[in-house]
Amino acid sequence: TADVIVQVRAPRANPDAGSADLDRLRPGQCLIAQCDPLTDAQATAALAARQATIFALELIPRITRAQSMDVLSSMATLAGYKSVLIAANHLPQMLQMLMTAAGTLAPAKLLILGVGVAGLQAIATARRLGAVVHAYDLRPETREQVESLGGKFVVLDLESGAGEGGYARAMDEAFYTRQRELMRDVVSGMDAVITTAAVPGRKAPILLTREMVEAMPPGSVVVDLAAERGGNCEVTRCGETIIHQGVTIIGPLNVPSELPKHASQMYSNNVATFLKLLVKGGQLVVDLDDEIVRGTLVTHAGEL
Ligand code: NAI
Repeated sequence: TADVIVQVRAPRANPDAGSADLDRLRPGQCLIAQCDPLTDAQATAALAARQATIFALELIPRITRAQSMDVLSSMATLAGYKSVLIAANHLPQMLQMLMTAAGTLAPAKLLILGVGVAGLQAIATARRLGAVVHAYDLRPETREQVESLGGKFVVLDLESGAGEGGYARAMDEAFYTRQRELMRDVVSGMDAVITTAAVPGRKAPILLTREMVEAMPPGSVVVDLAAERGGNCEVTRCGETIIHQGVTIIGPLNVPSELPKHASQMYSNNVATFLKLLVKGGQLVVDLDDEIVRGTLVTHAGEL
């Protein structure tokens, strides 16, 4: 009977109940949630058929006014931080450099692939723990951001992959092949690699091949934050930790849920701000002239 339903993931995200929640939506009802609308066109069309008004929080535009509603940034912040702790937990060494009476301990070398919100947070966290941090993104503007956090930007001889709205664009297979070739030597010198590369609505690009993993030193670690989107590493198994020729490869699922206090705080603040935009005088108003409303609306009055 609710006019507005707010969820974390919807609909059909529940592994047991399947599409039960979708079947219970009534025409005119409003649903606000992460709906993953770009990956499955058929499923999104099925949403429209319910004649509900559905907002996908993943589509909040990357504009200043919408920053306080941006759930992707919130969750990526948590995932980036946690990814470094996961790597640290699996590494057979400390991250920091230390001169002790028992000799000098070299710092761990970390490589962060993909410098979006998660990647930047991973760089900052790894630097705080004393690691030597290298980072790479196909958007050249990230170089300054990496350097401002004390990271070393890896420069590859490739064209820019910057797309719209601050996101990366999908590149052709020749680009990804060349990228992997150039990256091979960089990766082989690292103790840990954290991958965060994503392209909206697409499977994650493969940045680390099996061969590259096999060239990493024994005891090194890969944390693949793109595991849920197919993974940035060829060897990743989603939701599992495996050891491949002495290298630990971790494909964690739903990393923000491991920091539930801050995940809940950020998500609820984001949604509350979004609701304040939609509700005027106690009524839900779908104002299609508003860039945030228009950009986030997936289905309305039976239309996709
Ligand atoms: P994302 O989660 O879509 O992707 C992560 C990173 O992977 C991106 O930086 C992307 O360029 C990179 N990537 C994709 N393919 C790659 C490849 N083949 N090799 C290397 N890197 C690759 O990105 P996210 O975290 O959502 O943020 C993207 C950017 O959006 C941010 O850096 C920021 O500039 C902008 N942004 C703006 C906001 C605002 O103004 N409200 C809020 C949040 C982000």
